[in-house]
Amino acid sequence: MQTYTTKTFSLGTLDGLSQRQIDEHLKLYAGYVKNVNAICDRVKILKADSATNALELSELTRRFGFEFNGMRLHEYYFSQFEKNMVAGEGKVKEKLVVDFGSYDAWLAEFKSVGLMRGIGWVLLVQDEVTNNLHTIWVSDHEIGNLAGQKVLLAMDMWEHAFLLDYIPSQKKDYIEAFFKNLNWNIVESRG
Ligand SMILES: [Fe+2]
Repeated sequence: MQTYTTKTFSLGTLDGLSQRQIDEHLKLYAGYVKNVNAICDRVKILKADSATNALELSELTRRFGFEFNGMRLHEYYFSQFEKNMVAGEGKVKEKLVVDFGSYDAWLAEFKSVGLMRGIGWVLLVQDEVTNNLHTIWVSDHEIGNLAGQKVLLAMDMWEHAFLLDYIPSQKKDYIEAFFKNLNWNIVESRG
């Protein structure tokens, strides 16, 4: 099995998100990659005697979704800020109009989901069966994630994503900063 590697992102200066905030967040991301590999390695060893190790194996198997999604969702997140902000157009934006009435209606919904209490992610996903777009909330990294969906946009709503720049009551300002730096062409490329 291929080992997972920590990706690097070419991020310029972001508007409303400090270098310190991004650097600290990237360290957390690297931790998820490390733990995904650690679980894979450990499970391989434990499987040699799965009867004796059943308890630890089941705990690590449950843990895998948290660590793996923690890794992958952060890769979606940081790569959205690459190559600076672009208010791009494309088929995702067109489909948002079909499914939500207008881009602005979807945007308002997405932002309001971000203001929900709790830690997790707001995702714009596309159903692989119907092509329907959904705005969903994922608690932690994995709870509430829907099967068979392509992730088009991922907004981190863990406090670690903004706490160096914004206090919890300024969540709204963090969300505005997120969209200020978003390269929409990346979202389109995932659709
Ligand atoms: Fe995060």
